[in-house]
Order: sequence, then structure tokens, then C-alpha cells
Amino acid sequence: TLSVDAANPAHALPSTFFGVMTEDINHSGEGGLYAELIQNRSMMASSTSPVDWSAVGDSTIALDTGNPLNSALTQSLKVSLTTATRDSRAGVANSGFWGIPVAPGRSYTVSFFAKASAGFKGPLTVDVEGADGTVYAKGRVNGVGTGWKQFTTTIRTGDDAPSTAAARFVLSAQTGSGATLWLDNVSLFPPTYGNVKNGLRTDLMTKIAGLEPSFIREPGGNYLEGNTLATRFDWKNTIGPVWTRPGHQDDAWGYWSTDGMGLLEYLEWAESLGAQPLLAVYAGYNLNGSHVDVSQLGPYVQDALDEIQYATGSTKTVWGAKRAADGHPKPFDIGYVEVGNEDWFDGSGSYDGDNGRFAQFYDAIRKAYPSIKIIATTPVKSRTPDVVDEHYYETPAWMNSHANLYDSTSRSGPKIMVGEWASQEGKPTPDLNAALGDASWLTGLERNSDIVTQEAYAPLLANVNSVQWNTNLIGFDALTSYGSPSYYAQSMLAQHHGDQVLSATYAGIGGLNTVVTKDSTTGRIYIAVVNPGGTAQPVTVDLADAGTVAETGSQTVLSSAHPTDTNTISDPAHVVPVTSPVHGLGATFTKTFAAYSLTILTVN
Ligand code: AHR
Repeated sequence: TLSVDAANPAHALPSTFFGVMTEDINHSGEGGLYAELIQNRSMMASSTSPVDWSAVGDSTIALDTGNPLNSALTQSLKVSLTTATRDSRAGVANSGFWGIPVAPGRSYTVSFFAKASAGFKGPLTVDVEGADGTVYAKGRVNGVGTGWKQFTTTIRTGDDAPSTAAARFVLSAQTGSGATLWLDNVSLFPPTYGNVKNGLRTDLMTKIAGLEPSFIREPGGNYLEGNTLATRFDWKNTIGPVWTRPGHQDDAWGYWSTDGMGLLEYLEWAESLGAQPLLAVYAGYNLNGSHVDVSQLGPYVQDALDEIQYATGSTKTVWGAKRAADGHPKPFDIGYVEVGNEDWFDGSGSYDGDNGRFAQFYDAIRKAYPSIKIIATTPVKSRTPDVVDEHYYETPAWMNSHANLYDSTSRSGPKIMVGEWASQEGKPTPDLNAALGDASWLTGLERNSDIVTQEAYAPLLANVNSVQWNTNLIGFDALTSYGSPSYYAQSMLAQHHGDQVLSATYAGIGGLNTVVTKDSTTGRIYIAVVNPGGTAQPVTVDLADAGTVAETGSQTVLSSAHPTDTNTISDPAHVVPVTSPVHGLGATFTKTFAAYSLTILTVN
């Protein structure tokens, strides 16, 4: 029996509870959510060769440091057009991030900087074409001269174009044999979410919206810290026109980031989903174990203050004015700032201590922004953080058996954010077994949301062609994306809950985990039950003090025949939730919960 105390809610479910964590891992941003389709558009990914670019026709290509676009993009792509004639084009190609997506009637915005040796008359042709040379979309630009100039055009596929990622982008000339071209910041964008310039991929944003996040913890994670000081997320290098951003080696995860998805784009991402950015600021620790000496920390503390001002300051402030100049006059609403990431790894102990890294950031942020809540990445004694971030990557069995972990946690200390967690089983995305572990864990966090005020699964996204972390919530390739069973477990719980957590005790129910919430306005009750076992479980639900209970409600069920069942790019909907009406509800009723299932009952 599951006995629910519907008359006396235990506590509120904080509006901050459901969140999302992100960083550039598994090409989440670069080659993922950030909709740019050209890989290494800025020619900065290697200092020795033009990686991701290839010669087309009778041409040769090389990196050129002698003809830089500007002081940020210090290398351009030099294209020597050996033979460029009407019957024999010459140029360069880029195959994007494991293909360029083609679909019927798709438009693309092409833009690039170009210059040429004297006498080159052009024009240049840009196209998206298949492996067999079939041209899906094509355009042309004129006017390339001896000085750098930006060119922009729109190209479109026909309504009969296939849906495929077996395509590449080609920029070529059919005149100018013997001439030289220089190219930089060569960009190809599909339509973006909300049609935002330099924006985000629509299918992924739609999926993330389904998680109904109240916050996005950004920009990391290890990505924030970098392996070394030089490769941290140095936010001042990630703002302004994209062709003035130098980019950096994402050595936490092993690939180049153009920083096209920079600080402003991260902030706007959260805003466009109605979520708050939860800003993680660099706090002096790097993944290689080094840290900025506490006596030298001043400039980094100032950098964090500047960053918060960039995000939240009025346009009368220095950095607020810069944000406005970058196209976003309205300040962002930021309630929480996290100081660093996983600083328990810092064996030197420089994070805590009276003049430690946390204390220095805490004091400065508290003074300048007294209403912002400050999150420590590990328990500290030097100051009292508002929130401490805890991370759990465990097996599904561990998650199922630890759903009560926070039941006995002291309520007198700082609040807790479980800012990264996942049941790990399945690569690149979790299977149903992991999803049920996740659901169990989430029921425990939600039941304890008086102390665990925020949660975020990690990692969020994985390009299936480049996976650096085993178990990730949403998988995608150049063309399509899918939610894992864990994605559906998360979105079910985020979409079906009230604003009050009810006490619910159960007896004699083997291995189930539950959370019951109530909507204080409608009186509706949501009963989430996870059955991770292989046997269906009948449960008598006692709602005696809930008032009048309608005979008909609804249920959303995530289940499948085998716990290892999963979703993939080619089978994206193998394990998905199904919603249906339920009858026979009342003050008490018996309901059987299927083997290997998460069920959310909505009781009216
Ligand atoms: O989520 C992947 C990584 O796990 C994060 O970057 C880091 O914070 C944690 O160790």
C-alpha cells in the first residue's frame, strides 16, 4: 500500500528544481547545438595543416599566416587555383561535422571572407553537393578583390531534395587559372531555433525544451576549467563578432572550439527556453591539477565580476554596455553563480581556507552582487555557501537503491544542487535500465527538494560520431536526433508534477520508488512510481484525505520488454512514453505497475 498524506503537504517543490547542465563535450556545442555546419570555419584548429578542408579540382590548399583576416584569426586558407576553367572547377570542400545535412526545401545562409590575387575576376560558386556530385543547393558571389571582404548569400535545396547527411560544402571558381584565393570564417548556417542569427539547432532545442529546465548550468564542467590556464573558457575571448573570436582547444574533450557558441550564446540559449542561466565562473583550477596561486588570483576574481556584469549589468556599466553592443541590451536574470567545478580534485586544498580560492570569489561576488546565491563545488569551511554542488555517476542498481540518500541529510546546512548525475549504462546514450535508475534517483531528489533545490543530469548531448563520455541524455548526428529512455524519464517527471511534495509512505512494495506531488491550484495529484524489477507490482493507493477523487485520470508510462532496450539514431522511438486514460480511481484504488516501468498517474 502507498499511503499518501494529501491534506498536509510536506514542503514546496522549488521552481528551481529541474535544470540542465551543459558544456562542450561530445561536440555538444561545436558540431551540435551550435548550428554552424562548417567544421574549422576559422582555419585555426591546427597550426600545421588546414584540417577539415580538402582541395577540389586542380588546386592546392595550405594555411597562410602571412595573410591573416585580423588579429584573432591569424591563419587563413590559401587556395591556389592551378586550373580553373568552365569545364574544370577548382576550389575547396568541407564535409562539416560528419556530413552536411540536406532536406527538401532547406535554406542555408552562406557567409565567408575572401580576397584574391590581382586580376582574379571570379565569380565564386558555393554549393552543397552529394558524394556523386549531385548539387542540392547552389549560389554565386561576385566582387572578390585584393582586400578582405565579407560575402553573404542564401542558397536553397529543391523540394525534391533527399534527407541525407552524405553531402559536403564546396566553394569553387571556374575561371582564374593560376590565381590565388584566401578564405576565412567560411560559414554555412541552416535555419535556427527562433531564426536567431548565429543561433542553435532547432531539433535539439525542441528536445531540450521538453525537459522544461528552470536553469541551465553553463558553460561547464571540465570545459570551463580546461586542462591548463590557457585552455580554460576565457569568456572575454568568446564575445563580439564571431570572426573576432580566436577560438580555443577544448582540451578537456579533445577538439577545437571556434567559440562561436560563446558566453552570450550560452546566456541566450537559457533565455530562449525561459530558463535562468546558472553561471559557472572559472575559479583558478585546471584539470591538469595546477591552480592559480591564491596570491595571484585577483585578476581572475575581477574577470568573474566582469562576467557577471556582462550578463546582468545595466547598459550604463562597462560590460553591460558591451553586451548591448553585442546585441543584447536587456540584462539577463541570474540567480546563482557557481565558483569553479569539482574543486574536490584540487589536492593542494587551495579552494578552501580563509584566503582560499572560494573565499576570494565569494567575498567579491557577495559584495558586488548581494542578491546572487553562491554555489561551492565541494563543501567548504571558510565561508558558508548558499548551495553546495554534488555529482553522482553511478550504476542503475546503485541509483535504484539510493533513492533515499537525502532522506536523512541535515536540513541545517547549505542547500544542495545535484548539478551532475546519471545512471550509467549504454553508450552513447542510456538504455531503459539506466532510465529507471534515473527515475528512481529523481524521485528521491524530488521528495527531498526542501534541501536538494536543484538537479541536472549530465552530459546532455552527444554527437554519436564523436563520443567522449559513455552515457549521454540526447544523441544526434548531422541530420537527426533522438531522446534516450533517460531523456523521456526526465521529461516525464519535469512535465508532470505539482508545486507541493506530499508525504507518501509505502509498505510491502518490493523495490519500487515513488514521489507524489500536488498542484495547489487544481488539487490534481501526480503519483510517479518506478518499478525497475522484472515483475509487475500491484499497489493499493490510499488517497483517503485527498477530497473527492475522480474515477478517471490519466497515466504516462515508459516501459519496454527488456531493460536493455534503447533508442538509437536508426530506431529513435523504441522506448517512448505512452499516455492513456485510467479508470477505476478513487479514494483508494489498486493499480498494477508493469515490469521495467516508470508510470506517472495524474489523479483529478
Ligand atoms: O559530465 C562530464 C564531466 O563530469 C564534467 O565535465 C565534469 O564536471 C565531471 O567530472
